[in-house]
Amino acid sequence: MAYLLSHENFTKICEFIYRKSGLYLESEKHYEKLAKYIDKRAQELDVENFRKYFFKLRFKDKEGLEFQELMNGITVNETYFFREKDQFEALVGFMLLELDKVMPKNRPLRILSSPCSTGEEPYSIVLHIVEEAKLIEHRDIEIVGIDIDSTVIQKAKKGKYSDRSVHAIPKNVLAKWFDKKNIGYQLSDDLMRSVDFQVVNVFDKAQMRKLGKFDVIFSRNMLIYFDDASKKEVVMTFYDMLNPKGYVLLGHAEYMSRIVSVFNAIKVDKTLIYQK
Ligand SMILES: C[S@@+](CC[C@H](N)C(=O)[O-])C[C@H]1O[C@@H](n2cnc3c(N)ncnc32)[C@H](O)[C@@H]1O
Repeated sequence: MAYLLSHENFTKICEFIYRKSGLYLESEKHYEKLAKYIDKRAQELDVENFRKYFFKLRFKDKEGLEFQELMNGITVNETYFFREKDQFEALVGFMLLELDKVMPKNRPLRILSSPCSTGEEPYSIVLHIVEEAKLIEHRDIEIVGIDIDSTVIQKAKKGKYSDRSVHAIPKNVLAKWFDKKNIGYQLSDDLMRSVDFQVVNVFDKAQMRKLGKFDVIFSRNMLIYFDDASKKEVVMTFYDMLNPKGYVLLGHAEYMSRIVSVFNAIKVDKTLIYQK
């Protein structure tokens, strides 16, 4: 099947995407995905070739809506509740307790889930805090979830999840905080209100700065899509956004030692965490 996107133009659009989002698309697998997306989008926009689509994307997209559409079409949003569960346990059993000892009593502890995809990660943080963290009785905790993809942020705000998405939540926790629907599960309003979701590109320094400072940053399973220079740039942005003694967590296939050496690695049981 012939796509509108030639292999030569694939290289061009990849460079553009890389500059704007850090996403590093190179392989044949990415070619297929992008080519299918562009065929579909060109039809919706009624443009007959790649050149016209690319022109629109680069020069006629002052508000970034077409770029947003492209991001929504090509990002990989795979996630589920309690994924890499030992990290949430390290959060409530170690990091929050350590931070509570050293941080002024009158200010909230702030946690960023970057990227949060459809919300399972920040809501897993909330579930662990309400179920296991004693300190919420005397300390406010704020949780912010960000992602470049606006469709996943809309889904996160709705709090409706499939059986597959909730499969790793213990039955008693699921029964307590979710309503079983005909299809899937609805998260309780109280928990939904406890996360502030925003559409943010981690490479947009001004947007990132506006989020303020954090004590813990979860950044799991996004850096694997970036090349070395972009990984370093993002991790240094996180470093600047962390309060002193703050922590970063990466996905299990991502290693800070291969990116920068500004954090101290700490092992909590089987989990590696990184402290500023
Ligand atoms: C595989 S999901 C990871 C979700 C969750 N952290 C987890 O580990 O289950 C990767 C997410 O990264 C987001 N992403 C990719 N590039 C991004 C960028 N430049 N800024 C913010 N989010 C980005 C994608 O939209 C996608 O939802």
